[in-house]
Formats: sequence, structure tokens, C-alpha cells
Amino acid sequence: MSGKRIELCSTDDVAPGAAFKVEIDDLALAVFNVDGEFYVTDDACTHGPGSLSEGYIEGDVVECNFHNGQFNIRTGEVVLPPCMVPVKTYPVEVQDGKVTIEV
Ligand code: FES
Repeated sequence: MSGKRIELCSTDDVAPGAAFKVEIDDLALAVFNVDGEFYVTDDACTHGPGSLSEGYIEGDVVECNFHNGQFNIRTGEVVLPPCMVPVKTYPVEVQDGKVTIEV
């Protein structure tokens, strides 16, 4: 099953250790740069109204700015409650300096 590939942003839009919010095709996504590796998750925290692209990033963990729950940026797994449900992640490929995902 192969989905469609969509281009989210340029690699230059996301500094190392930072996140960038992209809204496209009914999706709200957070693009993360972890030491030059790019990862994409849903932007919405699974616990409530938090926006993960506005969270605090420490290594490969993002802390929601609402109730301070944490997720692993690479896997989407919960690192710290009150979040219980993993955040969705997307397979990323960098092509010609653009961050792309398959959906
Ligand atoms: S909304 Fe993110 S931890 Fe509650």
C-alpha cells in the first residue's frame, strides 16, 4: 500500500532542536529537526489542546506546553503522562532540501 507523498517545508525552515508547524490537506503537522534528522508528527497533542510544534524540545523528546506531557519525537510514544495515547508519526524523506512525508 503506497500513499501519496507531500512536501511540507524546506529543511532550512526548521533549525536543529526546533519545530515548525505545517498545515496541509486537512492535516496539522509538527516537523522536528533532531540533530539534522527530520521527523514529523501530528501537531495536536493527544491529551488536549496543546500544539506540539510550540512545545519544549529536549533531544528527541517534546514536552507539550499545556500540561507538560512528553512524547518521543522519533516514535510518537508517550514518555511522560498525562498523555496516554501515542502521537501519530509519519515516514519522512528529505528530497532536494524539502521535507516530505507519505500519507
Ligand atoms: S494537552 Fe498536551 S499534555 Fe495536556
